[in-house]
Amino acid sequence: MGTYVPDRILSNHDLEKMVDTSDEWIIQRTGIKERRIAADDQFTSDLAVLAVKNLIKNYSVSVEDVDFILVSTTTPDTPLPSVASQLQHRLGIQSCGSLDISAACAGFVMGLNLANGLVTSGLHRKILVVGSETLSKVTDFKDRTTCILFGDGAGAALVERDDNHASFIHSVSTTEGRAGVHLYRSGLANTLEQTELAGAGNIIQNGREVFKLAVSTMVREIPKLLEQAGFSQADLDWFVPHSANIRIIEAACDRLKFPMEKVLFSAEYFGNTSSATIPLALQLGIEQGKIKTGDTLLLSGFGGGFVHSSTLIRWNI
Ligand code: ACO
Repeated sequence: MGTYVPDRILSNHDLEKMVDTSDEWIIQRTGIKERRIAADDQFTSDLAVLAVKNLIKNYSVSVEDVDFILVSTTTPDTPLPSVASQLQHRLGIQSCGSLDISAACAGFVMGLNLANGLVTSGLHRKILVVGSETLSKVTDFKDRTTCILFGDGAGAALVERDDNHASFIHSVSTTEGRAGVHLYRSGLANTLEQTELAGAGNIIQNGREVFKLAVSTMVREIPKLLEQAGFSQADLDWFVPHSANIRIIEAACDRLKFPMEKVLFSAEYFGNTSSATIPLALQLGIEQGKIKTGDTLLLSGFGGGFVHSSTLIRWNI
C-alpha cells in the first residue's frame, strides 16, 4: 500500500465561512472533521503518481516490471487520455496494459478483484491498482449539501502472484443501474435522454436515497459473501467499508450486528475521497498498528451507479 493526500486542509470551520453550515452539524451527520484539497495545478494523475512513489518507498519494491495498471477514478484529469496511461509514462514503466475503471467509490475494490482475476488466470503477473480522486474540482462549494462531504486523495496497491500466500479469499460485485439517477456527475450527457442530467460537471446527489442504497446493499451482500466463503462475521478482524459517512457505516453495522470497533474509517480527516477512502483507511490501520499479518479483512466499496464490490482478504504483508 501507498497513499498520498494534498497538504491543504479544509476544516469544517473553514466551510462555516463559505456556506450556511456548522462544525457540529457536519460531524454529527457525517463524522467528517476536515478534508484535503488539491492545489489548483494538482490533478488526479499527480496524486496517483505520489501514492505509487510512497508505496515504492514504504516497501522497497520496484514497479518497473508492472505489466498492468488499473486506476479507479471519477475525476480523471481529462476523459481522454486515461490516468492509467499517464501513470505508465510518468512512472517509467516500459511495457504494460493500462485501464481506467469507472465504478465510483466501489472502483478500488473492483480494481483489486479484477487484478486478482488477471493474476490468477496467468494473463498478468504484477499489477498496480490505484484509486485517485480530486473531487474538490467537481464540487460546488456553494452547495452545502455536497461540499461538506468530499475531499481529495489517492491510494495504491501492488498485486502480484505468490502461490504460498494467497491473499484473496472471495469477492462479490453488484450493480443496480436503475438507481444511477441518485448520484451522478452532471454535464457529461451523451444522449437526449440524459440531457436533463446536464450541468456544470459537478456531483449531484439525492443524499437520502444514497444513504438508503448504501446501507441496504451492505446489509444484503455482506452476509451472502461471508456465507459463500464459509466465513462468519466473527472471523473478521477488520471491516473496511467505503468511508462516505460514519452514519451509513453505523446504520449498516447496527443492522448486521457488527462491532464498530472493528471498522477502519478514513473520512474523519480526509472526507469522502471516493475511490481512495478504502486505501486511506487501510493506511491508517497500518500506521496505527491495528492491522496485523494474518488478519482477515473485508473491504466493501459502494457508490454511484449504484455499484458495489466487496472482497475478503488475508493480510499477508
Ligand atoms: N449544514 C447545515 N444544514 C444542512 C446542510 C449543511 N451542510 N446540508 C443540509 N442541511 C439541512 C437541509 O437543508 C435540511 O434543512 P430543512 O430541514 O430546513 O429542509 C436539513 O439539514 C436536513 O437535510 P437532509 O438532507 O434531510 O439531511 P440528512 O440528515 O439526510 O443529511 C446527508 C444529509 C449528510 C447528505 C445525508 O443524506 C447523507 O449522509 N447521505 C449520504 C450521502 C453521501 O454520503 N454521499 C456521498 C457520496 S455517495 C457515496 O460515496 C456512496
